[in-house]
Amino acid sequence: MDTARSSVVAPGPVMIALGCVAVVLGGLVAAFTGPLDWAKGSWAAAYLVLVVGAAQYVMGRMRPAGRRPDRTGWAQLAGWDLGSLLVIGGTLVATPVLVDLGSALLVAALALALLADLRAPERAGAWGTWAYRAMLLVLLASIPVGIVLSHLRN
Ligand code: HEM
Repeated sequence: MDTARSSVVAPGPVMIALGCVAVVLGGLVAAFTGPLDWAKGSWAAAYLVLVVGAAQYVMGRMRPAGRRPDRTGWAQLAGWDLGSLLVIGGTLVATPVLVDLGSALLVAALALALLADLRAPERAGAWGTWAYRAMLLVLLASIPVGIVLSHLRN
């Protein structure tokens, strides 16, 4: 019974894996941006590397290994990746309402990440947890800026 439980996949390692895939994907997009003369390519590459890649990797590393099944962890993962897909798609097809929808999912995912962190007593006071919370706040603050830019430009 215990063995079966511990073998269930947790969201943290999946976030780490998806984050690594996104960094590679971002690098590939960056490589093709110049040759294809793709105007939004450098933005898409930076977004993939920083937001979908690095931030998701850190979220995965910081996901508390609590009880399983970790439904809120999966909801966080889904919100971050679906939200990012909508933000990238909405930007590439110049449809700000998709960016708005994606942003709502991203905010929900950030809230879940913050709540999980606040409920992890073993990390209280550790400097890493403050750096992590600062990262979540920077991401949260970037979202309205992205929404405004998207509406102004389209
Ligand atoms: C979850 C986090 C973020 C979201 C949802 C987001 C979203 C967006 C969107 C939708 C745009 C407008 C794209 C367009 O229509 O041209 C944009 C542009 C931009 N963002 Fe973000 N962003 C985020 C994080 C960040 C961060 C952390 C930085 C800084 C390190 C950043 C820097 C920029 C810059 C410099 C632009 C202008 C790019 C250009 O003109 O090509 N963003 N972002």
